[in-house]
Amino acid sequence: MTQTLTIPRPDDWHLHLRDGDMLRAVLPETARHFGRAIIMPNLVPPVVRSDEAAAYRDRILSALPKGMAFEPLMTLYLTENTDPDDVAAAHASGLVKAVKLYPAGATTNSASGVTDFDKVRPVLEKMAEIGLPLCTHGEVTDHDIDIFDREAVFIDRVLDPIRRATPGLRVVMEHITTKNAADYVASQDKDLGATITTHHLIINRNHILVGGIKPHYYCLPVAKREEHRIALRAAATSGDPRYFLGTDSAPHTDENKIAPCGCAGCFTAPNTMSLLAHVFEEDGALDKLAAFASQNGPAFYGLPISGETLTLTKQDTAVAFPENIDTPDGPVTVFDPGYDVFWKVA
Ligand code: DOR
Ligand code: ZN
Repeated sequence: MTQTLTIPRPDDWHLHLRDGDMLRAVLPETARHFGRAIIMPNLVPPVVRSDEAAAYRDRILSALPKGMAFEPLMTLYLTENTDPDDVAAAHASGLVKAVKLYPAGATTNSASGVTDFDKVRPVLEKMAEIGLPLCTHGEVTDHDIDIFDREAVFIDRVLDPIRRATPGLRVVMEHITTKNAADYVASQDKDLGATITTHHLIINRNHILVGGIKPHYYCLPVAKREEHRIALRAAATSGDPRYFLGTDSAPHTDENKIAPCGCAGCFTAPNTMSLLAHVFEEDGALDKLAAFASQNGPAFYGLPISGETLTLTKQDTAVAFPENIDTPDGPVTVFDPGYDVFWKVA
């Protein structure tokens, strides 16, 4: 008997679309399955002001193939010079749905991020006042902090102090990778949510490093020990409204991934929904997939759940995903979970 699962059309609450040729190549992969996505602003140069976000939104919409429906939810890249009034105007017009905090130097194109968190206090206060969420790349960048500890230290040294000093500020901890982060979310109120990626539900740090280095499994925050992956699976499959899908699908060409200094990012847009169905079924939680991928995110952002649906069917033979997506800049490898997957988007 064919198993099918129908959920409201999912959304991706953390996505990298890039620009130009890469944007045109990867956008259909997301728009095929997802209705909306929170678009990361870490372009070169970053999307800092509202006029830049409006122009980027127009470029995304003009890159969308005819007949596909997709709504980009724009973000602004927080810098120490961000103007609180520009942020408020971008929110009031409906253009911008969140502001993104990158600690300077934490990841790809984060050089313009924040070093002195006191300098962004007026922006954060304005955001608390108007109810605009802050999305955080939650890793400290101090050289003396081990890369595997950077998320946990960020919670103690940066995030918790910011939240205590800014009551009412709504925060999304993006792409959480640790039990520490999942537990911190669980211990807080509804003003705090977290996105979890598909790949962090599947790989731990051994997958990156054992038996040879796997550049396509390298992303930031880097995957942690198995006990953390298990905690993320428990959070994602719990149905708790504070956890929702943010794929962090981050395309880089193979040339830039397979290099002496390779880029961070896993490209999961094409097969995320199949992989999630596999993961949720494995954990006996297929009935919670709709909450994670389609319902909890809109609820946090105060947006309607999609009126459309997505149907997945489980087939007898493994789904053949493309190994890579061709782009004018070169191939971009699709995330490979390392096992067969039988759930296919109908
Ligand atoms: O793996 C990642 N890739 N993590 C990030 O934070 C940035 C992203 C990118 O832009 O490539
Ligand atoms: Zn990201």
